[in-house]
Amino acid sequence: MPKAFDVAIETVGNEVSQPLARPLADESSARRAPGAAGAGKSFYIETFGCQMNVHDSEKVAGVLLGRGYRAAANAVEADLMLYNTCSIREKAVQKVFSRLGEWRGQKRKIIGVLGCVAQQEGEEIFERAPWVSLVCGSASYRELPELIDELESGGRRVLGLDLDVDETFETEITRRDNPHRAYITIIEGCDYACSYCVVPHTRGPERSRPSDAVLVEARRLADAGYTEIQLLGQTVNSYRDPSPRQLGFVDLLREVAAVEGIRRVRFTTSHPNDFDRQIVEAIDSTPALCEHVHLPVQSGSTRVLRAMRRTYTREEYLEKISWIHSARRPISVTTDIIVGFPSETEQDFADTITLLDAVGYDGVFSFIYSPRPNTTAASMPDRIPEPEKSRRLAILQERQRQIQLARNEKLIGQTFEVLVDGRHQARAQWTGRSGSNRIINFTSPCENLLGEYVQVQVMRAGPHSLIGEQA
Ligand code: SAH
Ligand code: SF4
Ligand code: F3S
Repeated sequence: MPKAFDVAIETVGNEVSQPLARPLADESSARRAPGAAGAGKSFYIETFGCQMNVHDSEKVAGVLLGRGYRAAANAVEADLMLYNTCSIREKAVQKVFSRLGEWRGQKRKIIGVLGCVAQQEGEEIFERAPWVSLVCGSASYRELPELIDELESGGRRVLGLDLDVDETFETEITRRDNPHRAYITIIEGCDYACSYCVVPHTRGPERSRPSDAVLVEARRLADAGYTEIQLLGQTVNSYRDPSPRQLGFVDLLREVAAVEGIRRVRFTTSHPNDFDRQIVEAIDSTPALCEHVHLPVQSGSTRVLRAMRRTYTREEYLEKISWIHSARRPISVTTDIIVGFPSETEQDFADTITLLDAVGYDGVFSFIYSPRPNTTAASMPDRIPEPEKSRRLAILQERQRQIQLARNEKLIGQTFEVLVDGRHQARAQWTGRSGSNRIINFTSPCENLLGEYVQVQVMRAGPHSLIGEQA
């Protein structure tokens, strides 16, 4: 694999925390077709958004490599510049157009927009950025080579926005960013209709992937040396096997965790409505299932939850948390919260703050409410002024910082198993994650620990990470 490949996919934005240039593991080299349509041409993909987008970019890279394209060292050198986009908040969309502005004037290149902004804005993108010639949503990535061929044989603009057919689960060749941890999408789209959210519009209706295909991919990954698998879906625990085996989500978790060579299985994002006790029981009884649940609550006020159409109350959510808290293994819980939803009162916001204390989260992704096109919340009255939203966000983040610091300080002296995935040269520290998904930086006398599972004793604690020594 050319070294340049390391930088052919860039991930930006705060929705994900992927380091940019990682060592590469590639399942594709044996099946690549150098004589195919893209021979000699190079591509570059920049990615915003959630892990599903990050994994989609891996699939797109695989599709292009399979057609003979090669990875470019940077955007400027590439013949094909692709931008995989997110439209979850207005700011994310603004970033897209300002980044596209920087790509203006690259006359000989094909510039394409993929992902959720592509799906949402469609042809509008050609109007706003006429130097873009390709717009393609996430359900149509298998058509990319044909769309590109069309451009190369004289077509001016091409669109792939079909949401009815979804073949991207079964992308033949997927290129992976990380040599130890791999994503598998098990469910696409979303059938919920949260009043603030664009995802049902940008990703379409919910479709689960047949369990056999998931397991074949998991086994292939294990054979290729991956030890950690992360199962992905916007509502991953709504999974329902469409094949005759009819596995439920928990059955699938157990079967993936039983694949030989797989030491860790994670899953994200769980919807509280579909979160049942069986998931906790599975984590309790299956060491390979990581002791971490990301369970977005969005608000601590039942009134706001109703306006958000989240389909659960504060009390129902807290009951699910009590199942997690009464598990035999300590299970780490993280969440997403939106502040400043239309009509959110001081009391509603206070309910969210007390929920932070009641749950004791190990991590919170918190966002200022952003009105989105085609969502019912966008036309709700009683919008909260921006400065007030920012004030609430700052209060929430400070409270959560204190909670995390206190929780992490309690871990001093304990030993965790860490999958090592990086090194801070300057600080002479290794870094990795525990099964509970905590970031642990540590010192070790060993020369190379990348990809190793190491026992680390925690010596110091900050709000966002732990510092330790190899035990
Ligand atoms: N499927 C996941 C969420 C996916 S989007 C779930 O149901 O929990 C990731 C997070 O972005 C959401 O959990 C929510 O907190 C936030 N988000 C979504 N739409 C938003 C909006 N319009 N404004 C602000 N934050 C939003
Ligand atoms: Fe959006 Fe709600 Fe679906 Fe999550 S469950 S993707 S927040 S509509
Ligand atoms: Fe963003 Fe689309 Fe993911 S809107 S959060 S990239 S599903």
